[in-house]
Amino acid sequence: MNDTQQKGDNISDIMWVEKYRPTNLDQIINQKEIITGLKNLLNKPNELPHLLFTGAAGIGKTTTALCLAREILGDSWKRDTLELNASDERGIKMVRERVKEFASIMKLSLNQIENERPFKIIILDEADEMTSEAQTALRRIIEDSSKTTRFIFICNYLSHIIEPIQSRCVVFRFSKVPVDEVVGYLKIICKNEEIKFDEKALYKIYEHTNGDLRNSINILQSASASGNVNTSQVQSAIGNSGKNKISEIIKLALDSKFNESRIKLLELLYVYGVSETDFLKYANEEIYNLDLEDLSEVSSMIAEYDYRLSNGAHPEIQLAAFLAQLGKMGIKKNKSN
Ligand SMILES: Nc1ncnc2c1ncn2[C@@H]1O[C@H](COP(=O)(O)OP(=O)(O)O)[C@@H](O)[C@H]1O
Ligand SMILES: [Mg+2]
Repeated sequence: MNDTQQKGDNISDIMWVEKYRPTNLDQIINQKEIITGLKNLLNKPNELPHLLFTGAAGIGKTTTALCLAREILGDSWKRDTLELNASDERGIKMVRERVKEFASIMKLSLNQIENERPFKIIILDEADEMTSEAQTALRRIIEDSSKTTRFIFICNYLSHIIEPIQSRCVVFRFSKVPVDEVVGYLKIICKNEEIKFDEKALYKIYEHTNGDLRNSINILQSASASGNVNTSQVQSAIGNSGKNKISEIIKLALDSKFNESRIKLLELLYVYGVSETDFLKYANEEIYNLDLEDLSEVSSMIAEYDYRLSNGAHPEIQLAAFLAQLGKMGIKKNKSN
């Protein structure tokens, strides 16, 4: 999926998460220390180090990286920033090619335009999805391209980034957005969209999303579809974004439609921000509701995956394996529906 393709006017009109995505650092909520730290670095933009942003989903890491690119590169920021999703590319070929490209453009422009920033920016989102081999290769690219390229790595789990990369970056740890800030932000959106809301409903959104602002805004938007935002609409929006989708995923997996179920799983994890442990919890409930044969085998399987996740195994890989295994088990329902 190409992120720049998603950033057409339409998406930003339709999706509030895009419509309300900050475009400069001062609009970023909550991450005050980080913003101050970054602004200090901006005092000497030519000495900017590589950066590593880490923290939970939906709290402003990617947005901050984009704001920073804007601020450093000015009008040409789009041209001079490469935003890559490490999990899509599954490799570093693309990074290597782009770095080379950047380097050759750089030689030209350095001769021609004196004032231009002496580097371009590569934002490598979901860097913790890369294998450690790929990260090791990347480390070499970072070293070789330090004249032309600054990297901003983004990850959920710092421990999944190899040490040599960590040590070449200034690390910023993003924190979850606290309740008052989430509720305050949702209120601003409601006012702007001229939507009436019940304050309790906004707190309910926070209870469910636990500081994930992207997920909070998505739930608010879907709850507002029928007018006022109240607790029961929030409840059903949460149901739509979470439980119902999980039930659909499990059914697809049981029908051995692995690819479809995996795509929906990714959507659930990354678009709706459902956590992997919540996924298993609801999957467990769903499987019991389905009244299947051979429940004991499924139960021990769920327990196994739960254990692996709590030990820091890679969630996306584990859950995909879980779905594949469900399909292979060929479990039959006891009842006809
Ligand atoms: N700290 C924040 N300040 C303002 N908006 C935020 C913040 N964090 C998340 N958002 C909202 O959520 C969306 C997703 O944020 P993003 O930066 O992509 O999160 P992350 O990269 O941490 O998963 C943004 O488009 C914005 O609407
Ligand atoms: Mg992000």
